[in-house]
Amino acid sequence: MAHLLALGLLAATASAQNFGGSSRDEDAFSYVQPENTTILGPYGHSPAVYPSPHTSGSGGWEDALSLAQDFVAQLTLDEKADMVTGQPGPCVGNIVAIPRLNFSGLCLQDGPLSIRVADYASVFSAGVTAAATWDRDILYQRGYAMGQEFKAKGAHIALGPVAGPLGRSAYSGRNWEGFAADPYLTGVAMEETIQGYQDAGVQACAKHFIGNEQETQRNPTYDSNGTLTDVIQEAISANIDDRTMHELYLWPFANAVRAKAASFMCSYQRLNGSYACENSKALNGLLKEELGFQGYVMSDWGGTHSGMASIEGGLDMNMPGGLGAYGMHPEAGSFFGGNVTIGVNNGTLDEARLDDMIIRIMTPYFWLEQDVDYPTVDPSSADMNTFSPRSTWLREFNLTGPRSRDVRGDHAAIIRRQAAEATVLLKNNNALPLRAPKTIAVFGNDAGENTMGPLNSDTFEFGTLASGGGSGTGRFTYLVSPLAAINARAQADNTSLVQYWLNNTQIATNDVADLLAVQTIPEVCLVFLKTWAAEGEDREHLKLDYNGTEVVNSVAATCNNTVVVTHSSGINSLPFASHPNVTAILAAHYPGQESGNSIVDVLYGDVNPSGHLPYTIALNGSDYNAPPTTAVSTNGTYDWQSWFDEKLEIDYRYFDAHDIDVQYEFGFGLSYTTFNLSSISSTQLVRHISAQPRQLEVQPGGNPALWTGLYNVTVEVTNTGDVEGAAVPQLYVTFPDSTPAGTPPKQLRGFDKVVLQPGESRNVSFELMRRDLSYWDIISQQWVIPSGEFVIRVGFSSRDLRETVRISPVRA
Ligand code: NOJ
Repeated sequence: MAHLLALGLLAATASAQNFGGSSRDEDAFSYVQPENTTILGPYGHSPAVYPSPHTSGSGGWEDALSLAQDFVAQLTLDEKADMVTGQPGPCVGNIVAIPRLNFSGLCLQDGPLSIRVADYASVFSAGVTAAATWDRDILYQRGYAMGQEFKAKGAHIALGPVAGPLGRSAYSGRNWEGFAADPYLTGVAMEETIQGYQDAGVQACAKHFIGNEQETQRNPTYDSNGTLTDVIQEAISANIDDRTMHELYLWPFANAVRAKAASFMCSYQRLNGSYACENSKALNGLLKEELGFQGYVMSDWGGTHSGMASIEGGLDMNMPGGLGAYGMHPEAGSFFGGNVTIGVNNGTLDEARLDDMIIRIMTPYFWLEQDVDYPTVDPSSADMNTFSPRSTWLREFNLTGPRSRDVRGDHAAIIRRQAAEATVLLKNNNALPLRAPKTIAVFGNDAGENTMGPLNSDTFEFGTLASGGGSGTGRFTYLVSPLAAINARAQADNTSLVQYWLNNTQIATNDVADLLAVQTIPEVCLVFLKTWAAEGEDREHLKLDYNGTEVVNSVAATCNNTVVVTHSSGINSLPFASHPNVTAILAAHYPGQESGNSIVDVLYGDVNPSGHLPYTIALNGSDYNAPPTTAVSTNGTYDWQSWFDEKLEIDYRYFDAHDIDVQYEFGFGLSYTTFNLSSISSTQLVRHISAQPRQLEVQPGGNPALWTGLYNVTVEVTNTGDVEGAAVPQLYVTFPDSTPAGTPPKQLRGFDKVVLQPGESRNVSFELMRRDLSYWDIISQQWVIPSGEFVIRVGFSSRDLRETVRISPVRA
C-alpha cells in the first residue's frame, strides 16, 4: 500500500509539473527539475583522483606498448601536441600524419551501425535490434562484418559500440544506438561487438562514458555571441551514487575494457557535478585504475571544456580538436593543440603525462597492426563529410587511394538474417506464419518507399524507417521496403490481391471497409508503423508516430486478422495489444538495409522468430520511472541536475520491485514453436568461496577474481512444438536477504540461444562469475558476495521463470 501511495504521488507530482495539473497524455512524460536542487545531496559530487595512471600494456599489449614507447621517443613537442589534438579533415575525427615516421595519421568514423560518412557501405541493424537477438554469435558477426567495412574504407577507429545510454529512461533519444536496458545483456553485447570490430582490424571506441542517459541539455547553452565564456547554463549533471554506478552504468563498460577496447569516448554531460571529460573519478579512478583500461579516452565532439583539467582528469585525446566544434571560427585554436606545447614548456604539464596519452593512443594501433598495409582513407569520405568540409581544413591531407570503394561484400545476406532473427513476436493468435494467403492488404506509412528525401537526417512521413537519426545512423545505398518485399513474395505465391494504403491520416479517419471497397475482407491485413528517435532530442511520448494507434484501431475495426509490425527505436506503448482482431504483433526495431526482406522471412516462417525484448513494454507510458529532466525552473548556471534517485530500479528492476503489471516484460518473445525447461542443477566450481574477492593484480576488466566462474547452472531445453526454432533460456538471480536494501528482486545473469529441432532436447549451461553474485559495497569499495541463499531461476522471460535452484556460496 505504501508503494502504491508513493507511486501515485510521484505520478501526480510529475503531472502537475508539466501540465499545470491538467489531465495529460498518459504516454507523454517529462520531468521539470524543481527549485533548489543544486544543493549537494548524499551524492552529486566527485572525489578527485590524481594523477592519471600510466598504461602498462598489461593483458597482452606489452609488445605493442614498447613499439608505442619507441614511437613517442622520436616525436618533437609539436608533433606530440598533434597526436592528442584532432584536426578538421576527411574523417569525422582526424589525427594528422607524421610522414617522417611513416605514420599516416588516424581516421575516426561514426558510428555504431555503419560507417556513416561513406558511400558503398552497408547499413546494419541498430544496437537495440542486435540486442533483441540475445545471440552472442550474431553480435560478434555483426561487429566483425562492420569492422571489415570500416577498415576497407581506411577508418582506424569505429566510434562504437554504445553502452551509454544504457536505457535509464524509456524516453531517451539514443537508447536505440545502445543495446538493452540491462547491464548484463549490454555487457555481453559490448564484448562481442568489440571483439568483432577488433578481430577485423579496426579499433573500437566504447561510448559514451558515462551517465549520458538523456539528450536534453547534454551540452551547455551559450550566449548567442558564441564565446565559450558566455555559458548561460552548464550541461545537465547526471548525479549517480557509487553503488548504482557500479552495478548498472559501469558494468557494461567493464566488459568493454575486458574485451580490450582500444578507446573510450567520454560523454557530453556533467557527472556528479563535473564534466565527464574532465571527471578524474570517472576517467582516472573508475576506468584506468579500477578497470585497468590500457587504451585512450577521447572526448565526445565538443565535449572538452578545459585543457589542463581535462588532461589531468584522464582525457587523452581532444576531438574534434578545435574550437570550431563550439561554433567558433575554425582557426580559434583548441583547448589542447598549442596549449599543450605551452603547458610543457612552462612546466604546468608534465611531459610524462603527455607521453602516456600518446602511448595509450599508439599501443592499440600497433597491437592491431594498423601500421602494416592499412587501407588509405577513401577520398569519397572527404566529399561527404559535412562535419568538417574541405573549406574548414587547416592542415593538408594526402588522399591518394582509390575512390568510392565498395566495401559491402556479402554483408546484405548477414544483415537480412540478423534482422529477421532479431524480430520479436509479441502476440500470435495463429495468424503467423502466413501460408500463401489468397488476399493481403497492406496499411501504414512505414510500409512503402521513402518519398521524402534523405533517410537518416530527419523523420519523414511516408516511407519505411530502418534507422534512427544523428551520428549513429547510416547512409543507405538501398533500402528494401516491406511493401516491395511483400509484393515480390505475393507474386511468387500467386496471392491474388495486394492492395495498400500508406497514408495514416486517411486510414485513421476513414472506415477501412469503405477503403477496401470489396465485398470480402482480405485474409490478412498487415499494418506497418514506425517510431523515430534521434541524437540530440529525447522522445516526447512512447506512442507509434503518425497516429499509429488510431491506424491499428481503424484497420482492426474491419479486418479480423490484423497483423501489426513496428519499426521503432525501442519502447512503444501498444494499447491495442489485447484487441481481439489484432492477431499478431511484431517489434522489428531498426533492421538496417534489408528491412523488407527480413520481415517477410519472418512473416512467412522462413525464419522462425527468436527475438526477445531487451526492455519492458509497460501498460502506459507514464508507468516508467526515471524520466529525462526536460526543463529547470530556475536559471542558475549549474541548475540542470538529474538525480538518479531510482538507483538500481530501472526497467524490469523497477516494475518487479513495485509489482507493477506490464504489457510485455523484459526478455519476452514468442516463437512459431514452443519450448520447455527441465532438470535444473548447479555445480560449485571452486572449493571455498569467500565473500570478498582475492586482491589480484588489476587486468583489463578489473580484478580478474571478479571474472572467475564460481558455479555452473545447467538446464535442459526442449522444443515441444512441431517446427525448428531457437529458444532463449534466461537466468535471473535473486540475492539473499542480507544484501543491502535497494537490491532488485531479480537480475539477469545469464542467457543463451539454442536452435532445436521438433522434439529435440539440449542441455544449456550458464557460468556464474564472482561479479554476477556480488553487490558493490560502498564501504569496503569491493564487490562482495552476501551471505545466505541465492535463488537462481531460469525461464523464457523475466516473468516466465520455470526452473529454480538455490545456492549458498557464503554461509551466514
Ligand atoms: C557526437 C556523438 O555524441 C558521438 O556519438 C559521435 O561519435 C560524435 N558526435 C561524432 O559524430
